Amino acid sequence: MRAASVSDFRALAKRRLPNIFFEYIDGGAYAEVTLGRNVADLESLALRQRVMRDMTRLDMSVESLGQTLSMPVGLAPVGMAGMYARRGEVQAARAARAAGVPFCLSTVGVCSVEEVAEGAAPPWFQLYMLKDRGYMKELLARAKAAGCPVLVFTVDLPTPGARYRDIRSGFTGSSGLSGALNTAWDGIAHPEWMWDVWLNGRPHSLGSVEGAVAQQGRRVTDFLAWIARNFDRSVTWADLDWVRESWDGPIVVKGVLDVADAREAVRCGAQGLVVSNHGGRQLDGVKSSVAALPRIADAVGDDLEVFMDGGVRSGLDVLKALALGARACLIGRAWAWALGAGGEKAVAKMLATLKSELAVAMILTGCSRARDAGRDLLDLD
Ligand SMILES: Cc1cc2nc3c(=O)[nH]c(=O)nc-3n(C[C@H](O)[C@H](O)[C@H](O)COP(=O)(O)O)c2cc1C
Repeated sequence: MRAASVSDFRALAKRRLPNIFFEYIDGGAYAEVTLGRNVADLESLALRQRVMRDMTRLDMSVESLGQTLSMPVGLAPVGMAGMYARRGEVQAARAARAAGVPFCLSTVGVCSVEEVAEGAAPPWFQLYMLKDRGYMKELLARAKAAGCPVLVFTVDLPTPGARYRDIRSGFTGSSGLSGALNTAWDGIAHPEWMWDVWLNGRPHSLGSVEGAVAQQGRRVTDFLAWIARNFDRSVTWADLDWVRESWDGPIVVKGVLDVADAREAVRCGAQGLVVSNHGGRQLDGVKSSVAALPRIADAVGDDLEVFMDGGVRSGLDVLKALALGARACLIGRAWAWALGAGGEKAVAKMLATLKSELAVAMILTGCSRARDAGRDLLDLD
């Protein structure tokens, strides 16, 4: 199949990836109500068609945190991408660089921040606060030394959400001998992935935090279990000052759904925030990101840059989020599926798809500059 849309990349990833990784990417928390809402609420928004306007000139670029993005899209931090394709974070970062959009590297990426910076370009760096503050300080210094321009501080994961698909697939939790055999069979049944990632994509560790996790186990899942035990639940807004002491560049707080929290982010001096429910992977039952976006953008949009992620599956979705006040969207599953489907080339193709969809949407709504997108692009009656 030739992939024409993001959902096609999902179908290809389902074929190529072992079940445990496909389910890890695809799934959400509990009954996946919020995961469904993220997509459905974006879908249900109606764009306003406008005609007979001169749309020969189209400017899809936006300014963000001192950079010009070729379109209002960034690659959200996604853990363990190096298990979806060989050295996956480097491949995705290369595709992002070529497309002129930022790539944000997860704390729990397989490739280290240095490997991504050298192999592609210095990424935005995403921080999970772990209990070992000494190690966190070192990690921030490494990200700085690697040239990362932006720190994305994820605040909606003081503990990992309950993800039933991961338990069922054997990705998390002890599954004994039959589980181990299942996992082995899962790999063998996907020979292309076995060759690309399992045999030739090593080391399978969590590159940036490897030092902190050493001796804990040898499989990526052992690393993840260690990380889960070491997330720092005591973090408060006061800790943003602590982060600031070790990071003099822009800080984006990721995982805000409430106006009161958005105001705190401003008060604490953040340069940006991501309206996000972690792609429906944390607290199931909360509202969709796009439902939370307009009130947050109205409250703090003049004070910092407001990004949104969750459920973005097309260029049309990107324009809808822009219309409701986002500076740009981050995409998570869309790039993880593409990476799993076909590495750098597929991520590049997926980004080109989003761009051409956005162009069509802009032309047919009469929006010639992405940075001017406003609520008048939507039919809110
Ligand atoms: C497989 C997967 C792994 C993720 N890992 C991280 C992570 O390490 N750090 C983080 O801040 N967010 C992580 N997220 C959340 C994404 O950054 C983003 O908020 C979410 O995927 C957006 O929703 P979407 O997938 O519907 O685009 C992850 C999401 C997925 C799907």
